[in-house]
Amino acid sequence: MGAIGVFDSGYGGLTILEAIRQELPNHDFIYLGDNARTPYGSRSFEVVYEYTLQAVNRLFDMGCELVIVACNTASAKALRSIQQKDLIKRTDKKRVLGVIRPTTEIIGNLSKSKHVGILGTEGTVRSNSYAIEVAKFFPELTVHQHYCPMWVPLVENNEYATEGGEYFIKKDIEAILSMHEGIDTIVLACTHYPLLINQIKKYTPEHIKVISQGPIVAKSLKEYLDRHPDMNALLGKSGLCTYYTTENPSSFDRNAHHFVVGNVHSKHLHL
Ligand code: DGL
Repeated sequence: MGAIGVFDSGYGGLTILEAIRQELPNHDFIYLGDNARTPYGSRSFEVVYEYTLQAVNRLFDMGCELVIVACNTASAKALRSIQQKDLIKRTDKKRVLGVIRPTTEIIGNLSKSKHVGILGTEGTVRSNSYAIEVAKFFPELTVHQHYCPMWVPLVENNEYATEGGEYFIKKDIEAILSMHEGIDTIVLACTHYPLLINQIKKYTPEHIKVISQGPIVAKSLKEYLDRHPDMNALLGKSGLCTYYTTENPSSFDRNAHHFVVGNVHSKHLHL
């Protein structure tokens, strides 16, 4: 039986995986973090596409029937090409889904003021994917976007709960809030950012909702599987989860406990 693959440039996708496993506790998962080549946020379209395609193909080779690209940067820069150019060449039914579409499908329901802030990596913000997708579902919404270049390195290096880390978090929150006084909802449009939630909330006025994507993506995946029983039938349901990293497994296991309940025993994989 096949597994659901969950891919991220590093640790961030674990925030998505955890939420998905709460929604689908019996399904089998393979997580792959490309920690050796993180961050993706400042890389070109071509490179993010190449790396993401390598990871997706490897997850397919390892038996995944469905891969969730649990990284906004890769969803913004590579997903459409993979779906339209690469999947189409396959004769099987393997599928790849991202994290931007499920978020933009519901985001307009959360904002009363119709001014939403998007915090992401440089790659996600410059791709303008959020504004383009939101316009399809909620044309009345104004999207204000800001990128936070230091936030992923703060997470990957476990430096976010420090004085230096908080300096950057405060600075970027102030920057997005200064874009429009009516912003009432902020989307953490990078899967690493929910790890910073305590620091983010400290500098965000209470009336502003701060949205993490994990539960949104998890609910959307469950609905997808309900709509696609043929795909669901191909998926193993023994509650297994295996972790792979392109970096050192022992440091992955040490850092992963910030994201995951319980112990992680990852294996090394070369892409
Ligand atoms: N976690 C990824 C995202 O959601 C970005 C991390 C990176 O820059 O590699 O965009």
